[in-house]
Amino acid sequence: WVKDSDHILTTGLLTVSGMGDSVIDCFEVSATEPFLSQVSHCLTEAPTRGVAMVPKLALDVLSCEVMRVLQLTDSFIVPINYHVPRKSGQEFHADLYPDTLGRTAAMSAAEWWKGGEKQEAPVRGCSTSSSPLSSPSSSAAPSRSPSSTSGLSSGFLPSPSQSAKAISSMLGPSSKFRHLQGAVLHRDTHFTNLKGLNLTTPGECDGFCANRHRVAVPLATAGGQIAIFELSQAGKLADTGLPTIQNSVNVADFSWDPFNSHRLVVAGDDAKIRVWQVPEGGLTETLTEPETILQGHTEKIYSVKFHPLASGLLASSSYDQTVRLWNLESGDEVKALRGHQDQIFGMAWSPDGKLLATVCKDGKLRIYDPRKSAEPVQEGAGPEGHRGARVVWVCDGKYLMVSGFDSRSERTLYLHSVESLSSGAIASAPTDVSPSTLIPFYDPDTSVVILTGKGDTRVYIFEIVPEAPYFLECASFNSSEPHKGLAFLPKTECVVQEVEVARGLRLSKTSIEPVAFRVPRVRKEFFQDDVYPDTAVWWESSLTASAWLAGSDGKHQSISLKPKDMTPVSEAPKEVQVRKYLPSSHYLEEKTDEQKKDELLSAMIGKLGNMDDNPLPQESFQGVEDDEWVSDTHTQTQMYTQTHTHTHTHKHKCTHTHTHLTMLLCLSG
Ligand SMILES: *[C@@H]1O[C@H](CO)[C@@H](O)[C@H](O)[C@H]1NC(C)=O
Ligand SMILES: *[C@@H]1O[C@H](CO)[C@@H](O)[C@H](O)[C@H]1NC(C)=O
Repeated sequence: WVKDSDHILTTGLLTVSGMGDSVIDCFEVSATEPFLSQVSHCLTEAPTRGVAMVPKLALDVLSCEVMRVLQLTDSFIVPINYHVPRKSGQEFHADLYPDTLGRTAAMSAAEWWKGGEKQEAPVRGCSTSSSPLSSPSSSAAPSRSPSSTSGLSSGFLPSPSQSAKAISSMLGPSSKFRHLQGAVLHRDTHFTNLKGLNLTTPGECDGFCANRHRVAVPLATAGGQIAIFELSQAGKLADTGLPTIQNSVNVADFSWDPFNSHRLVVAGDDAKIRVWQVPEGGLTETLTEPETILQGHTEKIYSVKFHPLASGLLASSSYDQTVRLWNLESGDEVKALRGHQDQIFGMAWSPDGKLLATVCKDGKLRIYDPRKSAEPVQEGAGPEGHRGARVVWVCDGKYLMVSGFDSRSERTLYLHSVESLSSGAIASAPTDVSPSTLIPFYDPDTSVVILTGKGDTRVYIFEIVPEAPYFLECASFNSSEPHKGLAFLPKTECVVQEVEVARGLRLSKTSIEPVAFRVPRVRKEFFQDDVYPDTAVWWESSLTASAWLAGSDGKHQSISLKPKDMTPVSEAPKEVQVRKYLPSSHYLEEKTDEQKKDELLSAMIGKLGNMDDNPLPQESFQGVEDDEWVSDTHTQTQMYTQTHTHTHTHKHKCTHTHTHLTMLLCLSG
């Protein structure tokens, strides 16, 4: 690896190549986060036998060349130039060229041995001595620098995958799910002709709810009616005569029993919770008689949440400022939790089922241990905005992620440590300004949280990591029409052959469509065991409500999602790995700016199409090996870019989709 010590000071560049490798990566190094970000990923025609940097004074400053390296291959020496895309001409861009070190020795070996500390004589003055990242050498040879302590040793790295790993450990903040793609599944699986949907469900309600067999959708017709659709019977709905559940009062919130796909609980405006049983095979006639009615709240209810492990245990929050626990088997209220001073925006059970967290309009986050105390065991400051909020436990229950509004009404995600709620948020990620609360769905297997708000067209995706920077933003999924809700199905519904990590159902004004969230991978014939750890069987209860109330905890079984006939990618033979990069000729041909603009435009239009049957332009990223997913960062803002040169008779190939897009954008605008 070779580095440019001038740019180490300002926006330092570092190039890395493995011996025998056909790729040269270039990174920007900075003294502050993210420390390292990838600038280019240059494919070379022949494997590298050595790389050296050309002295700075040899660069063509008028064409904004900021670095030149020479690649030694078996039969050629290939110059690779790095240019900043600027309107070049006769101007000297002083910001790109800080004073650089000169070529005369500052002292003799004997002087150094005696303890001399003179600086190398600079050309045009010297500014390199103050930075901890500066190096006293500007020589082309690989040199040691302080960054070698982060895992890179001097000299060339032995293998590409090792270099990718070493770099990824330095890169840190970039998610392997950052290219996660949402894809609407085939039209055959949609429900269409949906009519009379209630579009004004309260902020605490998710809009609709689903399990692996059926969905429940609130209707605007009087008497709190809920339509039930069997997922096995997708298609165009009849114009009239759909059987419904008649709750008789307005519906505030509702939820399927996670352990019984026939049982739906519905919280009403009349402070009562009605428990409904959908018959085997689905609703064929309108239901008017609930199985049970839970009574105890004195005012209307905000939301209901089933316990994650104990069967028939339900929590409900109400305008009466209490949270109550119910044992559905006996129909009894078993606990009432106090301490809230205002509207309860959201609540969530911890993954181990011991604790219940709430977020409240009074500005507080609370954690209850309901079997020990009716009062919160911890309190801390929550979001400042008063429009609404949700809370979800993440990272094995270490943190609470709160989706709310900041004091300026910007939607923001916050992370709070469960060990110490009173310390406030340890990290936050602002998203945008919009009136509806972002409703989170968290997948513990990937630590990916998928969020959208009612009325939004954008679905945000973040990976949450247990150390800084905590939030890693991934690609978002957009639809042309606003969502009225997004519900998720059990992990077993994901098609692992397609590297699908989450299966959602999107409710729009007139339809319900399944959306698959997939990780683009090359070797899909192998089971991608790095994205599929054993998954918790959360759809089976592990104890009864009475056992939990008596002090037992329970734990979910976990299962592997690996189909019998698939081999884990970690055990896949290495030799079948094929590097399927984009054909480099695609970028090598001399194209006019006009042609490049056209290509860029059609790529963008293709992206907007986002249809299931059209290959997405992102799929071109599938040619990248798994290790490289970790090390490249297409999404980062790039200041430097790399161009291939034709200055020599020997062709030097360089293909990096994003690099070229950056360059083209600069050209065209
Ligand atoms: C939709 O549901 C909400 C909450 O129960 C209720 O207040 C509202 O009146 C309903 N809307 C219509 C059009 O029925
Ligand atoms: C979705 O839309 C947002 C802005 O509305 C945009 O920034 C983002 O790139 C879009 N994502 C995709 C995958 O098109």
